[in-house]
Amino acid sequence: MVKVNLDGVVCEAQPDELLIDLINRAGASVPHVCYHPQLGPVQTCDTCMVEENGRLIRACATKVADGMTVSTKSAKASAAQVEAFDRILSNHLLYCTVCDNNNGNCTVHNTTKLLAIEHQRIPFRSKPYEIDNTNPFYRYDPDQCILCGRCVEACQNVEVNETLSINWEDPNPRVLWDGGSAIGESSCVSCGHCVTVCPCNALMEKSMLGHAGFLTSLKKSALSGMIEVVKGVEPETGYGSILQVSEAEEAMREHRIRKTKTVCTYCGVGCSFDVWTKDRHILKIAPEHGPANGISTCIKGKFGWGHINNQDRLTTPLIREDGKFREASWKEAIGLVARRLSEIKAKDGADSVAFISSSKCTNEESYLMQKLARAVIGTNNVDNCSRYCQSPATVGLFRTVGYGGDSGSISDMEKADLVLIVGSNTAESHPVIATRVKSSHKLDGQKLIVSDLRENEMARRADLFLHPNPGTDLIWLSAVSRYLLDNGLAHTKFLDQWVNGLDQYRKSLEPFTLEAAERLTGLSERTIRTVAHMIAEAKSTCILWAMGVTQQSQGSDTSTAISNLLLITGNYMRPGTGSYPLRGHNNVQGASDHGSMPNMLPGYQLVDDPEVLQRFETGWKVKLPPTKGLDNHQMVEAIHEGKLKAMYLIGEEMSIVDSNANYVGAAFEKLDFFVVQDIFFSNTCRYADVVLPGAPSLEKEGTFTSTERRIQRLYQVLEPLLGCQPDWKIIQDVANQLGAGWNYRHPSEIMDEIASLTPMFAGVNYERLAGYKSLQWPVAADGTDEPLLYTKRFAFPDGKARLFPVSWIGPTDQPNAEFDLHLNNGRLLEHFHEGNLTYRTEGIREKTPDTFVEVSPELAEERGIQSGTWVQLISRYGKVRVRALVTDRVHGTELYMPMNSVESPVNRLTSSHTDPVTNTPAYKEASVHLKVLNEVGDSPLPRINPRFGHPTPQGGVEVERKWKRADYSPPGNGNGSGLVQLQTKK
Ligand code: SF4
Ligand code: SF4
Ligand code: SF4
Ligand code: FES
Repeated sequence: MVKVNLDGVVCEAQPDELLIDLINRAGASVPHVCYHPQLGPVQTCDTCMVEENGRLIRACATKVADGMTVSTKSAKASAAQVEAFDRILSNHLLYCTVCDNNNGNCTVHNTTKLLAIEHQRIPFRSKPYEIDNTNPFYRYDPDQCILCGRCVEACQNVEVNETLSINWEDPNPRVLWDGGSAIGESSCVSCGHCVTVCPCNALMEKSMLGHAGFLTSLKKSALSGMIEVVKGVEPETGYGSILQVSEAEEAMREHRIRKTKTVCTYCGVGCSFDVWTKDRHILKIAPEHGPANGISTCIKGKFGWGHINNQDRLTTPLIREDGKFREASWKEAIGLVARRLSEIKAKDGADSVAFISSSKCTNEESYLMQKLARAVIGTNNVDNCSRYCQSPATVGLFRTVGYGGDSGSISDMEKADLVLIVGSNTAESHPVIATRVKSSHKLDGQKLIVSDLRENEMARRADLFLHPNPGTDLIWLSAVSRYLLDNGLAHTKFLDQWVNGLDQYRKSLEPFTLEAAERLTGLSERTIRTVAHMIAEAKSTCILWAMGVTQQSQGSDTSTAISNLLLITGNYMRPGTGSYPLRGHNNVQGASDHGSMPNMLPGYQLVDDPEVLQRFETGWKVKLPPTKGLDNHQMVEAIHEGKLKAMYLIGEEMSIVDSNANYVGAAFEKLDFFVVQDIFFSNTCRYADVVLPGAPSLEKEGTFTSTERRIQRLYQVLEPLLGCQPDWKIIQDVANQLGAGWNYRHPSEIMDEIASLTPMFAGVNYERLAGYKSLQWPVAADGTDEPLLYTKRFAFPDGKARLFPVSWIGPTDQPNAEFDLHLNNGRLLEHFHEGNLTYRTEGIREKTPDTFVEVSPELAEERGIQSGTWVQLISRYGKVRVRALVTDRVHGTELYMPMNSVESPVNRLTSSHTDPVTNTPAYKEASVHLKVLNEVGDSPLPRINPRFGHPTPQGGVEVERKWKRADYSPPGNGNGSGLVQLQTKK
């Protein structure tokens, strides 16, 4: 600790703490308009001037030093602060009472008050630019822009989309998109970082405009008139009394604007934020305190909430009658569900019924779903969609290190010396995690290796991009391991102390010579050696992987090979190291954690372990089935075989997202009784006998568990739409109709029960998760959690990890003369999965209206295809009609199709082949024939899609260029001679 004399009081501080942070912590009031703790010093506003030993310094750009004496209030400092802020006001009109940003958190408003500014000393100068309204979600008003550069810093160095800059040399600087494009035609991905950090109303969510204030919905002419009145009275009354009026209006807003914390409903990153609402209108998403994301979001979390108030929401139960659906009361629908399930169970046995839980629903709902299956119906036939993506990674980790979850946190990926990404389009599938890697790579010298079939954004940023032949990751990963062991580059000490099974593992690597790896993967021996040396030289390595690995017929083995590689290089047990299978859905981790699996009860406790079984039987007061049930792949087979008669499925678009969709649909048609619970009438609902209207995440309480094993609470933002119910209540109603006698009044009671039965969650309760608090499992009874796993031991009885030998078999669905092209598939940034939720947001639909198939320029030329050409893709299992998009993101005969379509789902083309260990479909191993149709339409991606933009990467806001302007001098100094310009950047 160092000691700093702050306004006469000695304060203790961390040696590298920024002075502004100390000042804020000590409660002194120094303005700081451009400084934001999550951006670091931007140094554009000069309002944070303080005096130190007679000289002025920027508190935001100065690290504390022992013995420093600082005055925040000296005449010199105060004058400089006011002068700096006067300059800001020359770029901003104060019309707070009629401004939608007058919500108590406007930095410009609050600084005016803090500095007791009474008059506009430097006249306001309008900028010669129009308001830019071309982005569907936010608008930029240059006239209100104070040129603080927060948005630029956020876009360049936090989001790292590198769209924004400021033209400091221009006589009238402004924020630029792609150096001067309209926002709507730029590379802006609508992540919202810039809008979130803007300290005033220059950048605002369109959903706020005209909605937040009491007077802001007035016509533009009326608003302009009122602004003129304010300008007219200011010289006489001063800002003090004007601000009093606006503060009265702001206080009124507090009563009608609700701010409720929630957790994002889309991907597994686990972003959390406040949702601002006025009645059912969503004003904005305000990220700030989320432990996973801070100020970060992607387009979906920030703006993708059109589904909530969408007119297509299901609001009443539906019952199929004479081949048609009719509306029904809840009583009738629940009664029918219970009666039919009972009848089928009585006739064909409990195992003729199956349950699919949802990875979109809460942990508590997943828990109840598997409890319904096991304790009420008496079957272990329960699963969730982690089978489609995550199970192989979980198995790989169970085999080697003991826990089936990310071994550390996002902060570890951020601080790693080297990040290796395998089969993950991270920038689109886990956008906020990608920001952390992009930022560390750009600013902190982190090295990045990417292995993928597609040259996605991360691949383009990588120091080394590997493009192996499809389905051969296991080979090059194992060849790297062998090379490291053969050349004395493995971490011997770590292996000796912490790892079992080296000899057998070493033997299993025999086939993986560099020569064999080159032949099979298409990667050169030199490249593989380079990878090995980069890992050996890095102080810490994290490996991130996703469905490019897991959705292969050897997904479990490749995941195991990844963990093996980490073990032999000692990349576990330390910050900045470890294995990170990136979880897809918001709660796909939690769905499995909470027992929606055919072989495991909550907390990965085996159904055939007598001790476990007894504990649950005592807790639930029932006899439980002791043998493994069917997974979702086996369920489809069992329906076809006539063994499975009834299914109850929640929140899964299984008829589209399961592989070999035609086959799955045909199975659903054979069911005697099918219940589907969802918020929209999905494609899967078409097969149902009863449809029950559930509630989306904003309409219920509960918890989600993100990819970093982080359990977070979501609070109810809105009442369920009339006619809908939170899913946990519906499951309880069904259970009780079947005679269960449950009486949960709130999801917290369900969590208490989970904690009492599951050692892994022993210390989890709602109190410990209040607000933005979170816990990363395992959680001991005293509430201690583990952000980084294995710091003391691996999760095996002897505390040691296990090297697990694997061998390579090869992909199943191989191209041949007829099906000559390899078809890959995956996500798009803007849409989640098939798009049932995201297509309901108009701006997303406008920018990304449809799916398409990416075709390489070589193949396009050979086959006479251009962007917009309609083609038919035909596989061994089905066909789809889709437009082509010609792009160099794919190479040669490899195609890529995003999964965002219900009309032309890629899974009509994929097979029923699976990874034998987990039954995860080999989605990524499809071969197709491409038939060019004689029809050319518009490009499937419109010109306004950000992929057509031209980013302008730069180091950040580049304030030095502002300082070089002839009309700039630091405030309070005249010529600026006493100012220390730049002490620290970040
Ligand atoms: S990408 Fe667009 S929304 Fe995101 S920070 Fe940059 S300019 Fe703003
Ligand atoms: S638009 Fe950017 S530069 Fe302008 S005030 Fe907002 S954050 Fe600052
Ligand atoms: S979709 Fe994922 S990255 Fe985007 S805001 Fe939601 S949790 Fe964050
Ligand atoms: S807060 Fe803007 S320069 Fe320090």
